[in-house]
Amino acid sequence: MRKRNVLIAGVLVFSMVLAACGGAATTVAPTAVPTSAPVATSMPVATTMPAATSTPEVTATTAMTPTMAAATETPMATEAMTATQATTTTTSTASGTVALLLPETKTTRYETADRPDFEAKFKELCPSCQIIYSNANQDANTQLSQAEAALTNGAQVLVLDPVDSAAAGSIADKAKAAGVPVIAYDRLILNSDGVNYYISFDNEEVGKLQAQSLVDKLTQMGVANPTIVMINGSPTDNNASLFKAGAHSVFDPLVSAGKLTIAKEYDTPDWSPDQAQNEMQQALTALGNKVDGVYCANDGTASGAIAAMKAAGLSPLPPVTGQDAELAGIQRILAGEQYMTVYKAIKPEAEAAAQLAFDLLTKTAVPASMTNGKTVNNGTIDVPSVLLTPVAVTKDNVNSTVVADGFWTTAQICTADYASACKDAGLTQ
Ligand code: BGC
Repeated sequence: MRKRNVLIAGVLVFSMVLAACGGAATTVAPTAVPTSAPVATSMPVATTMPAATSTPEVTATTAMTPTMAAATETPMATEAMTATQATTTTTSTASGTVALLLPETKTTRYETADRPDFEAKFKELCPSCQIIYSNANQDANTQLSQAEAALTNGAQVLVLDPVDSAAAGSIADKAKAAGVPVIAYDRLILNSDGVNYYISFDNEEVGKLQAQSLVDKLTQMGVANPTIVMINGSPTDNNASLFKAGAHSVFDPLVSAGKLTIAKEYDTPDWSPDQAQNEMQQALTALGNKVDGVYCANDGTASGAIAAMKAAGLSPLPPVTGQDAELAGIQRILAGEQYMTVYKAIKPEAEAAAQLAFDLLTKTAVPASMTNGKTVNNGTIDVPSVLLTPVAVTKDNVNSTVVADGFWTTAQICTADYASACKDAGLTQ
């Protein structure tokens, strides 16, 4: 508690340079920063995503209608809801610039949820402010360049979801040296005292939910001493380590008791679905296609593993886990190709980040209710933290979770190919 207050007090004494705020501007290419990194942020890079991935965007917030982005729509994320509501102060006169730096585009959440949810909330709080947005497309050097460009272009707060949790420590150090507070968004930034806040989910719990769901399903199917394959996330993502640790805390006692065999385990560089497909293919070859269940750390890696199993002719497919409640993941669950996913309500996460960014920008005291005294150690300091609660989703509760929460509508899920699966699961439009 005391540490948090000291930290917040520290934040409040940062002298922040107010950036000029051009009311009518829409998107402006910021000044390129000289850097040793291979890809300058102002230069286009090859990408499957349009604009956002390579070219940082500066967006004026005046166009936004200041409607309350109803955090109350999200019943499961009560902690952030309280936190977000606690400091909602409409300060029409505030101005300044914050940067949102996201890690990749192969996982759909960043462009479909994190970015729009953050921008909407921040624009509502600060109609005259600017947001610099960059997506690093899974390249830590690109992200470093993007962060340097953001600082050069007047960012007064960095909201950073690091590609590489350890390497990003140097970004936080640079920001601190420039008097710019940093919010570690979704992934912790390690080994730096320049991290002011961390907003994420209980990530070990994510791994536990995945593993326990898989174990329960295999038990329910009556599989004795099942053989599983583990496909973990990127070794540079601190969250991937936490998911993995949570999953092992469920699996390992069963392994010791001779009740479960982890036949193959992979860490998947860049969380790449293609790489996950290769890993699964290797595992199937090595195991002669004898696999009872597959632990996949997210829906993207699950899509790769499922593609490999289909290509190898496995039918029926064994139960597969996932995370993110991606639209394609939910559809695979309804179609019986994927067993479960983990739903993380991104809107309250992004809105809490926007609220904190606004408070730090305007030097408004952050209320204690935001973190409730929670901290997570990043190797250097205890970082005041907001940790939200993840929820396991199977066919049985798609309706009462992601649909009830407005994360996806039945119209989005129940396209022609999934009409009968939707009907079976009781999803009606
Ligand atoms: C996020 C997951 C995401 C993964 C890949 C993790 O840090 O928490 O939601 O699926 O990165 O981007």
